[in-house]
Amino acid sequence: MQAQYPPVVISGTGLYRPPYVITNAELVDAFNAYADQQNAQHAEAIASGERAAVPHSSVEFIEKASGIKQRYVIEKAGVLDPARMYPRFTPRGDGELSLMAEIAVDAARQALAQAGRTGADVDAVLCASANMQRAYPAMAVEIQQALGAGGYGFDMNVACSSATFALEQAFNAVRTGSARCVLVVNPEITSAHLEWRDRDCHFIFGDVCTALLVERADTAVSADAWEILGTQLATQFSSNIRNNFGFMNRAEDRDPDARDLTFYQEGRKVFKEVVPMAAAHIEAHLARLGLEPTQVRRYWLHQANQGMNQLVIKKLVGADAGSDVAPLILDEYANTASAGSIIAFQHHRADLQAGDTGVICSFGAGYSIGSVVVRKR
Ligand SMILES: CC(C)(COP(=O)(O)OP(=O)(O)OC[C@H]1O[C@@H](n2cnc3c(N)ncnc32)[C@H](O)[C@@H]1OP(=O)(O)O)[C@@H](O)C(=O)NCCC(=O)NCCS
Repeated sequence: MQAQYPPVVISGTGLYRPPYVITNAELVDAFNAYADQQNAQHAEAIASGERAAVPHSSVEFIEKASGIKQRYVIEKAGVLDPARMYPRFTPRGDGELSLMAEIAVDAARQALAQAGRTGADVDAVLCASANMQRAYPAMAVEIQQALGAGGYGFDMNVACSSATFALEQAFNAVRTGSARCVLVVNPEITSAHLEWRDRDCHFIFGDVCTALLVERADTAVSADAWEILGTQLATQFSSNIRNNFGFMNRAEDRDPDARDLTFYQEGRKVFKEVVPMAAAHIEAHLARLGLEPTQVRRYWLHQANQGMNQLVIKKLVGADAGSDVAPLILDEYANTASAGSIIAFQHHRADLQAGDTGVICSFGAGYSIGSVVVRKR
């Protein structure tokens, strides 16, 4: 006999948006200045054919290939300095709140306020993100303390699917009774793992943090509650999106500037392989719940590429993705790793009515795909 679980809701969301915008024009100017510097510095080697010139980037390419128009970052000057090309963060002492925890607490407070809760109501914190600031102690435990939460906290990383995978853990913890109120935070400081000196990917990412509160429907006090009808997770190993940074690099005598120690990908292959996987995954999940893709009012999809999302929707509902069916936020935020589908949910749910069904779905490195089907209460 299948266990009967109580209904569980997402009762609040929050979004930390960093203070600085980098437009495509600013980004391309900085990249091209870097390319010119490199090419001047290595003019002889380039002339003799020993070394390839660094080609320029272009705003037109970026917008056409991805749909991204700008991104938010926590620190801008270092990224746009052609002699540096990565953010400049001030190290903090062990007694200070760390940067990842700070942005998570900001997003978490918004989610708590929306749900009519305080930190004291939370009894589990999941910090789910594509990159953690340190090895330990877990970011989640620091966030738990900063919020005055009880229970336990742990970190988890499933790259771009970290948020949806964490939602399943939160859903299961609440419905089985091991926690009452679970906070999921997704602090994505992508600017620190992006290779801003590689034109194939320098435009891809932006910084952000999202937060979600998950609790039992019967005790939730939120006026904006979304029942979780089901979750479905899948992974399949691929090296097409990868980052080899890790604690063994020092022991391997790796050059810290080696290209594979920041984000790199085979973008074309990812596009081709992940689109059919994501569409089939969502379709199968909906079928398990007795739903047709056309019965879904809104899809809050992973935000990596405009064309990818249009194709996923076309496979699901047989039409081009109107922004009403599958809203895009990547034009403004770029790819924010695990936070993308949650930002879409945050910004594009207010117009839905009680009884409307939606799908939050992530896809990314691993490969990993996570879908969460929700219904407005
Ligand atoms: C990354 C992505 C936007 C690239 O778009 P694309 O259409 O596949 O482009 P390609 O990488 O094939 O490059 C096409 C051409 O533009 C060039 N190019 C690449 N970056 C450029 C830039 N910034 N400016 C100008 N030209 C550029 C390439 O060198 C290539 O030139 P070539 O044809 O002479 O070889 C796209 O593949 C994508 O978004 N894929 C999905 C990735 C994804 O979801 N990843 C998950 C990350 S979490």
